[in-house]
Amino acid sequence: MKPDTILVLDFGGQYCHLIGRRVREHRVYSEITPYNITSNHIKALTKHINIKGIILSGGPSSIYEEDAPKCDPMIFDLNIPTLGLCYGHQLIASLYGGRVEAAKKREYGISYAMVDSPDDLLKGLTGIQKVWMSHGDTVFELPRPFQILAHTKNCPVAAFKHREKPIYGLQWHPEVIHTENGSLTLKNFLFRICHCVPNWVMEDFAAQAIKEVRQVVGSKKCVIGLSGGIDSSTATVLASKAIGRSLTAVFVDHGFMRKGEPEFIQSFFQRFDLSFIPIDARRRFLQRLKGVTDPEQKRKIIGEEFIRVFEEVAERVGAEYLMQGTIYPDIIESGFGQHSAKIKTHHNVAGIPARIKFRGIVEPLRNLYKDEVRRVAEKLNLSDLLVRRQPFPGPGLAVRIIGDITQEKIDVVREADAIVREEIEASGLGENLWQYFAVLIDSKTTGVKGDARAYGHTIVVRALESKEAMTASFAKIPYETLEKIATRITNEISEVTRVVYDITHKPPATIEWE
Ligand code: XMP
Repeated sequence: MKPDTILVLDFGGQYCHLIGRRVREHRVYSEITPYNITSNHIKALTKHINIKGIILSGGPSSIYEEDAPKCDPMIFDLNIPTLGLCYGHQLIASLYGGRVEAAKKREYGISYAMVDSPDDLLKGLTGIQKVWMSHGDTVFELPRPFQILAHTKNCPVAAFKHREKPIYGLQWHPEVIHTENGSLTLKNFLFRICHCVPNWVMEDFAAQAIKEVRQVVGSKKCVIGLSGGIDSSTATVLASKAIGRSLTAVFVDHGFMRKGEPEFIQSFFQRFDLSFIPIDARRRFLQRLKGVTDPEQKRKIIGEEFIRVFEEVAERVGAEYLMQGTIYPDIIESGFGQHSAKIKTHHNVAGIPARIKFRGIVEPLRNLYKDEVRRVAEKLNLSDLLVRRQPFPGPGLAVRIIGDITQEKIDVVREADAIVREEIEASGLGENLWQYFAVLIDSKTTGVKGDARAYGHTIVVRALESKEAMTASFAKIPYETLEKIATRITNEISEVTRVVYDITHKPPATIEWE
């Protein structure tokens, strides 16, 4: 049976893929397509898949800009229920002749929407709703066939419906967990409006991915960059099941690993049937990063240097393919969507140099989110020790040292990170946190130690709750734990005079400082 499908038109929004994910959480299959898919193309697709609804995603453009992405307006005549979110909401309004302009007051983050009509889309939502907004433009007026369903203090048309056609718009983001009834709103769209049947269950991804890796790599050899994080570890185990000893796992110690990490990785992967090569590249990475302060440049240098090390190993073992544990957010945030803004260059995506000596790059996890990777890892029977680890960025501590990198700073932030981890884990808070770590910032401050003036480094403690890293909230760590962390860091690391706690959500901040 063909699964009921929702098409998500990608206008380049950071949350576009989150929409697809949220739809799948309701057991309805979703596919992301470019925003300019034509109505004829959609008609042709309906012969193969049951398209029950269309969602227009958000995006960074303004609809009144000359090159703003627009969908084929004929799709509104297909009689397929359509929901516009944020930019999609503004686009529908504008294509129907509504007035969309720059907002007098922009809304970023939590906002409160007054429900004017708890229609089928907003069924079950009454009164004031806590919603997540992120927009600079606003729909001020709608033409006659539309009805306003909700408004906020600064946004007169926060939700609407067409009176005759199944067309809806929401200025807020129901896909973001901070929108209190976001899941219910999407559910209303899927089941009340699109009449979907929840008949899609995630296929056995691991088995499918193993088959695909075998098909692509065939009898050739492959090297994989294994950092010890959940993504590259899962990709490694998956690939070792696919091609066995044709796989060489390369663990590059670039010098920016956490305390105890190189030892942990080496001992953990000894138990698997693969060839494992550790490379001590500490000196060459530090050399290449000498004096570099720009975060994007740091990431690019690290990305390139990784590839150079992999190429050297590949030449030694006769490998033609490079495998990476790249996941969806790495790709989205590196700005690889046609209209999406680049947030930061994930080292394993845009950090890859234009010329590489590999026949191809294989990325079996590139369509998955972190929590999905965790589920695959569980299926592969990876130990909890690995599955439950907090994510750690490929460039490691290098993107947690603001400004230029020196050996002294690496040592300081590594010790501070170990203390943060120890204390958070000892207090039992770790299990519910997405990440918790230390950052060393680029300014020294005055302190007093042992009755004498001290002038030393500042450490930032960052701890977050998140579901998939696309959004995150800073964790409300008890003061007692923060106090213990600060006391230990300033006592045990003589170079540190001050410890501060980062209380910024993502967005507007990102999780890592660089
Ligand atoms: P940001 O800082 O973009 O991080 O909010 C989102 C998640 O991705 C991790 N991260 C990376 N992971 N290579 C990686 O493998 C990278 O270059 C990279 N940069 C950030 C980060 O730790 C967080 O979990």
